Amino acid sequence: MAKPVTAFTCTACGASHRKWAGRCETCGEWNSITEEAPLSQGPGRSLGAAKGRRIALGALSSAEAPPARAQSGMAEFDRVLGGGLVGGSAILVGGDPGIGKSTLLLQAASAFARKGLRAVYISGEEASAQIRLRAQRLGLDDAPVQLGAETALRDILTTLDAERPDLAVIDSIQTLWSDQIEAAPGSVGQVRASAHELVTFAKRSGVAVIIVGHVTKDGQIAGPRVVEHMVDTVLYFEGERGHQFRILRSVKNRFGPAAEIGVFEMTGGGLAEVANPSALFLSERGEPVPGSAVFAGIEGTRPVLTEIQALVAPSTLASPRRTVVGLDSGRVSTILAVLEARCAIPFAGLDVFLNVAGGMRVAEPAADLAIAAALLSAREDKALPADCVSFGEISLSGALRPVAQAENRLKEAQKLGFSHAIMPSAQNLDGAGAMRLDRIGDLTGFVGEIFGAG
Ligand code: TYD
Ligand code: MG
Repeated sequence: MAKPVTAFTCTACGASHRKWAGRCETCGEWNSITEEAPLSQGPGRSLGAAKGRRIALGALSSAEAPPARAQSGMAEFDRVLGGGLVGGSAILVGGDPGIGKSTLLLQAASAFARKGLRAVYISGEEASAQIRLRAQRLGLDDAPVQLGAETALRDILTTLDAERPDLAVIDSIQTLWSDQIEAAPGSVGQVRASAHELVTFAKRSGVAVIIVGHVTKDGQIAGPRVVEHMVDTVLYFEGERGHQFRILRSVKNRFGPAAEIGVFEMTGGGLAEVANPSALFLSERGEPVPGSAVFAGIEGTRPVLTEIQALVAPSTLASPRRTVVGLDSGRVSTILAVLEARCAIPFAGLDVFLNVAGGMRVAEPAADLAIAAALLSAREDKALPADCVSFGEISLSGALRPVAQAENRLKEAQKLGFSHAIMPSAQNLDGAGAMRLDRIGDLTGFVGEIFGAG
């Protein structure tokens, strides 16, 4: 009989190691490696030799209808799911503690229940009385949601198997424990085993399962990344603590487009949907000030305008500050280097602060031009025209590269009252509406055009 192999797994990245070490070689995290119970093995035979059950194979094309989707009526939530909830799908909703995951899912479960779906909400974090109190405050106490407070996975699955609801919300994966595995709740082994059982249950029973997961400070769902691979859909609920805006973002979706966002506002009465995020993100803009640039972006299938704010000030530090919120700091460093090397505009000796207004996060390379515009405007202390948006990717040579969906960006900008767009000259375009276009080939041209030769 083969000797069972003991495995060691890194709780931060999920890499497996043959022996314990103080530091994970894969991700560099310290004290993150834990021992895991070995996989149970058959009596010394390889899988190929063992007699298995023959599975039924089918053709790729079939007369089967596409999966039925149920809509909650919360348009922002349905869109992020790819147009509604698919029966039998497993969905992971991640986010920082306190960001509003429980609130969102209680509201969503209630919305589905009011549409006639049978919804079960199981919390391992709060007592039923606490959840009822919250539901009351949110005005949801009349929604026919079944509540449960439990952490034992076996009991949860037995209950769900008997009830067979349309939707089950499990809040949260970190509180569950499976008696199959000897490890504390929240540990890699437990999180992985629980997620596996829940996903298997969803597939087997046709119950859509939404699993809540807390995220570690570096943005990973606590426990191994494998949970993300197991589920069909991964949504992140994000936002800045100090801001009331919350964004639900799909990072993976087997049933719809990824990178779709839904925008919500946290109010005293729970999460309110924001149907027009551009207007919201730009609502705090007043008179044009130096350092502010409006970026015409695309989030998923939807155009969203955001304001990028920069502040550039003389530094007293040997290595000046580069503080970036809501943008990729590597990208910002690259743009600073291109400005310096290609346009001879140095930022040495200057502190740079960059921020996306409203707590929004922008990951598109198309934001490069707007970032450069905000930086230059702040450095030159010269405001950009108030009616102007920009988009375009900057290459290392300083050339501006075209981006996707330019027409949608322009249309949204026009809808919000902008009349002027700065964009790459290489951009193909079918019609720009009534927008005045400044088509620019490279960053030097941009500096000349907007700031009079820099
Ligand atoms: P919660 O949903 O418990 O967060 P999570 O499940 O992600 O840990 O949300 C908690 C926060 O939301 C809390 O700080 C208070 C705030 N909140 C409101 O502002 N308004 C509300 O109506 C509710 C229910 C919560
Ligand atoms: Mg919670």
